[in-house]
Amino acid sequence: MELDYRYPAISDLKSRARRRVPCYIWEYLDSANGTESAKTRAEAALDAVQLSPDILLGYVTAELSTEFLGHTYQAPFGIAPVGMSGAFWPDAEALLARTAVETQIPYCLSTVSATTPEDVAPHLGQQGWFQLYPSGDTEIRQDMLARVKAAGFHTLVLTVDVPALSWREREKRVQLKNPMALTPSIILQSALRPVWAFGQVQQPALRPRIFDKYADPSGTSGHDKHIGQTLRVVPDWEYLDILRREWDGSLIVKGVLDAAPVPRLIEAGADAIWVSNHGGRQFEAAPAPLDVLPAIRDAAGLDYPLICDGGVRSGTDVLRMMARGADFVMLGRAFHYGLAAAGAAGAAHVVRLLSQQMVLDMAQLGIARPSEAHTRLPA
Ligand code: FNR
Repeated sequence: MELDYRYPAISDLKSRARRRVPCYIWEYLDSANGTESAKTRAEAALDAVQLSPDILLGYVTAELSTEFLGHTYQAPFGIAPVGMSGAFWPDAEALLARTAVETQIPYCLSTVSATTPEDVAPHLGQQGWFQLYPSGDTEIRQDMLARVKAAGFHTLVLTVDVPALSWREREKRVQLKNPMALTPSIILQSALRPVWAFGQVQQPALRPRIFDKYADPSGTSGHDKHIGQTLRVVPDWEYLDILRREWDGSLIVKGVLDAAPVPRLIEAGADAIWVSNHGGRQFEAAPAPLDVLPAIRDAAGLDYPLICDGGVRSGTDVLRMMARGADFVMLGRAFHYGLAAAGAAGAAHVVRLLSQQMVLDMAQLGIARPSEAHTRLPA
């Protein structure tokens, strides 16, 4: 495969992505909160996990396909929700959904996507998860859930680690505002990436499209205000109960870093817990997801489905997370480095890279299934 030689690692896609998109788009994708130590800690924690190779087993055939929450995926990893994927490549959400269908992995669409669930629906197959930033308006919430269901998303992910907006210094330095304003600096940065800019002018302006239906008809500024009011209610336990009653598919709670609430989450009907520090984007003092994963596994029990993300940049990292207690691993930036570097081909290349690395590593470890990785943790 030609791309194996051009981009043999996720870091090669990352370098290409950085050169292809304007500075402010790059900073949006790559940056984290404050000093970014939560992001670097997540990567360092993965790097520190050692797995012992096994010997004299002859050929062991690696099988990556994994059953998770009633669905069979071709590998134990998927595409984490990333707001405004359309900023990296035109029509990105549909491209990512198609990549997920072709490679049989899950794709989690963010609430704050540049396209609607209805627009993604024709490309989604059985791969659709939907990430919810909860709305404070009951009617809007119920309508959103009905739309998401009708569009074919079978799994709902409630993100609980955004109690406030995050201070991302790198975004501020490049004048990236929320909502985005077309300042001279932003226009200049865009003009310096003409190929990217050409792609962007072919598609509708970037904004969280799911809310268009509920927009205040009194003009654009009214629209932004209305979105601000309906988005971002901070969910509480009661909200989780309501959601559990209103959503009859699988429900995942994303953004857990502590074992203490785990029994209550399970009791409240969460079908899986997603251990995550939001890619280090919310709170620089947050622990590395990998470091808290074993305690959360202990609290949840051996058979309870756990997802983990944060800092995963290779198939080896996927195995490391699974060795420490994850049943499934999600990746945000890695897929978006691929997308921003080379569109759908780049995202598909990430799937191939991760899968190939896992198969090669599993031969070293002498394991047939990724879920056996924990047996190779050094004593
Ligand atoms: C995110 N993430 C995120 N999470 C979520 O629940 N809803 C969202 O809209 C977003 N948006 C978003 C944008 C960008 C640019 C990034 C990088 C991340 C967090 C994401 O789902 C995931 O938890 C992290 O990306 C995992 O860390 P890695 O894989 O990026 O290291």
